[in-house]
Parts: sequence; structure tokens; C-alpha cells
Amino acid sequence: MPDTLKIAFEALSADPCDQAVILVGPDLKPPATAADLLAPVPDLLKRAVAADGFKGKSGSFVDLLAPQGLSVSRLIAAGTGKVEDWKEQDVVRLGGGICARLPDAALSATILCETTAGPLDAGQAADLALGLRLRFYAFDRYKTKRGNGEEGPKRRTVTFRVADPKAARKAFKAREAVADGVDLARDLVNEPPNVLSPPEFARRASALDKLGVEVAVLGERELKKLGMGALLAVGQGSRKDSQVVVMRWDGGRDGAAPAVFIGKGVCFDTGGISIKPGEGMQDMKGDMGGAAAVTGLMHALAARKARVNAIGIIGLVENMPDGNAYRPGDILTSMSGQTIEIINTDAEGRLVLADLLWYARETFKPRFMVNLATLTGAIMVALGQEHAGLFSNDDDLSGSLTSAGLATGERVWRMPLTSEYDKLMDSQFADMKNAGGRHAGAITAAQFLQRFVGDTTWAHLDIAGTAMNSPKTDLNRSWGSGWGVRLLDRLVSETCEG
Ligand code: BES
Ligand code: MN
Ligand code: ZN
Repeated sequence: MPDTLKIAFEALSADPCDQAVILVGPDLKPPATAADLLAPVPDLLKRAVAADGFKGKSGSFVDLLAPQGLSVSRLIAAGTGKVEDWKEQDVVRLGGGICARLPDAALSATILCETTAGPLDAGQAADLALGLRLRFYAFDRYKTKRGNGEEGPKRRTVTFRVADPKAARKAFKAREAVADGVDLARDLVNEPPNVLSPPEFARRASALDKLGVEVAVLGERELKKLGMGALLAVGQGSRKDSQVVVMRWDGGRDGAAPAVFIGKGVCFDTGGISIKPGEGMQDMKGDMGGAAAVTGLMHALAARKARVNAIGIIGLVENMPDGNAYRPGDILTSMSGQTIEIINTDAEGRLVLADLLWYARETFKPRFMVNLATLTGAIMVALGQEHAGLFSNDDDLSGSLTSAGLATGERVWRMPLTSEYDKLMDSQFADMKNAGGRHAGAITAAQFLQRFVGDTTWAHLDIAGTAMNSPKTDLNRSWGSGWGVRLLDRLVSETCEG
């Protein structure tokens, strides 16, 4: 049983509570309600912050145990930084910081959602709660023992005292849907590859039907009929059936062209016959991070009843070396009819996406399509883990993704697509090859994908650096980050709903 977090909203008051969190800025003054709480010992905060060197900066905290004369067992002052400069993400991150500060022993905490500038509005209070939710996640399903001295799972309740509890509850509902989608994506990325095979992933995606998502699972027979020769080649060395899952959420106008999201779902990438070196190969369980993000996104959209027609398509395969595996030198015929010479069986993600992009375009006539893929190591050489690579044939879509990234903190950086790079993928024997040379590896991979999108408005996000093995932040401590769910949810709310 994992730890659980219950989030509640109630009216702003100085009523007694167990563990209280107050928000304090650089003026070091308690907000009005906190001042009421502190009334029995008016100079307590002043003395505490002086003793601690606390300056009210964001990310800093003062912790007062059993403060004498007060009705609380503990008082935590959380630094807010300058409230006039607050951006949305500052509030979400503050929530993450507070979550980390809540002591293990404390099972109920109360946050007074107010600064000296006044009470937080409903959206800000909900953003704070979102931060707590995102930070709270841990993947410990396979740990049979808990840490030293720990007992069973903890059931924590955090109560947000706000100006308008009803409005805050409503604002949080949509954010909770997104947080659930992020946690689903994280679970999928963290799951080991012996558990999360393509059929098991398809089963988990199918559970979205409970939210009103229409789910169709296509197995190898159907994929063959569709002519997905590129995708099927990747999975042909695996004991597991390759699958394509189509998830459909119709929350928008009848007949309106859908937004389509496509994910690379290589449940394990050994490299195939062009096998990878052993060191770090276990990380390739996360090579389905694109498919996980798409599944998490569909969960979020359906759970918050987004007013959009959206389709998620994920290609689930396992890339294994085997007597039946595809080889370097093979020439594949993709669903588009274009032929591909295999140079390297480790450049498999683009083969999966080639057929999905073509299928999406032909079947759904999308208003736009965005694919996510842990596609190349080269994108990490270029951008590290701070930005995902963005490749697109459309300036408006690029602009929308860039601003959604800045708003949510899931940032993207645009990379070039030009005919000179495209040429690097020409083949001696077929229409194209699946791997270019050493130069510009992330770009040549994107050029390969572009050969399957035609004139459809399209963006490709290379998330090899952001989806897995993630640096720990205020909002994520998990190996699988769930990256992309919040970004794309925001893209949808900003460009499709409204
Ligand atoms: N899944 C990998 C890319 C990857 C590497 C993701 C490290 C996350 C962390 C992809 O299938 C791959 O192997 N790409 C090759 C392409 C090359 C053979 C052209 C790469 O990046 O080396
Ligand atoms: Mn590979
Ligand atoms: Zn891969």
C-alpha cells in the first residue's frame, strides 16, 4: 500500500490546528490570519526568523516546534519571495517545497493560503495544492520493506484554508485531473519491462474507458492489414505481440478536426541486432516515455472533461535481438509506401512513429499532430535535461508549445529542419535509410519523421532527456518524470478549448 495524500479546502481562519504552514515574504510580516494565530506571542515570528537568518526568499523555511502559547503543535513559515513577482510556476513550486517540508510524523497539516498582499485567489490556492500533489508521488510498489523505524503506509491530510473554499475546490478539480495523468505517466515509465510489456501497456491504456475515452487496441494481424511494415519490423524479434492503441476523447464540437497526440512506446530497447552496450541498458525500460505521456494526457483531458476532440495513438513494441529480429540491411515498406533501408536496428523509434504519423494523418485528418518520443541520445548532447527538443513545420504550433512550456515549466527548445539535413537520410538502395551519420543525430531523426507527415501541421518533441532519469526538482523526485502531460494539457487548453 502506498502512502496517500488527501487534499481538503476550508475557510480561512486562525482556528486551532495541528501543524500550521504560513506564507511569509521578504517583509517578514505574518499575513492577517497568521497574525491572529500568533496573537498570544506577537513577537514569536520576528525572533524565530532573526535566529534562523530567514529572509522570506522562495525555497526557504523556518520550522518552530511546539511553540509555547500557540494552539498549534508546529509552525512552519514558508518563504514566498516577492509576491508581486509571482508567476504561476512559483506558486506550484512553493507547493512542492511545502510538501517536502511536512515532517514524516505529521499526518495532518494546515496551510493558511494568504500573504501580506491578501488571500491567494482560488487558482493560486489550487496551484499550491497541485505542487503538493506532484511532489508527493513516489514509486515504491516493488519495495517489500519500508525504511528504518517506519511503520505502515501513511495517510496524510493537507487542508488548505482559503478565502473561497468552493471556488478553490473547483479550480483544484481540473488540476487534480492533470496530476493524476502525470502520476499515471510516471507509473508507466517506472514499471519494469518484465511487467510492462506491450500487451500489458495496452491493457492499462484500455482502463481509460472508465473515464469515457473510447479505446481501440490493434494487434499484429490488424497492423499487418494496415501495412505498418516499419512498426512491425521493430517488434518482430520479440515474444510479445506489438500493439497500437488508439484513444479517443470527444469533448469538443461534433465533427471538429481532432488534435492528435502520438507516442513512441518501445517498452524495452535493447538496440536489437545492433545491440546496445550493457552499461545503463536498464534505463531503456523508459523508452516508452512518449506513449506514457500521451496516455497520461488522455487521462487528464477526459478526467477534466476538456472541451476538445483529442486522439492519442501509441505504438507499443519491444526491440529485441532474436533469430526472427530485423537486421541491418533489411529494406522495409512503410504504411505510406515509402521504403526504408535499415542501417542500425537501434534507430527503431522513428520506424514506429513513421507508420503512426502516416496512419494518423490519413485516418483522422488532424487539425495538428504532436508526437513525443525518447528518440535520440543526441538531443541530450544538444540540450541536456532542461529542455525537450522541438521540431516543427509550423511556427504557430511551435510558438504555442513554447509558451505552454514556459507556463508549466516543461520547456522546449526549437531545433532546425532543412533540406540539407533531410538529404543526409537518402539511401543508396531505398527511399531513405533509418540512420544518418554522426552529425546532427537529433535533427536527422526529425527529418526522417517529417517524411511521413505530408502537409499536416506537426510537431515532434524529442524527450530522451526529459522523460526519464530525471534530475530531482521541487515537483518531481521520480525517475520517470511524466514529462509532457502538463505541457500538452496546457497546449490543449490554450489553443483548442475556449
Ligand atoms: N531509445 C534510444 C534513444 C535514447 C538514448 C533515449 C538514451 C534515452 C536515453 C533510441 O532508440 C536510440 O537508440 N537512438 C540511437 C539512434 C542512432 C542509432 C542513430 C541513438 O541515439 O544513439
Ligand atoms: Mn534504439
Ligand atoms: Zn529507442
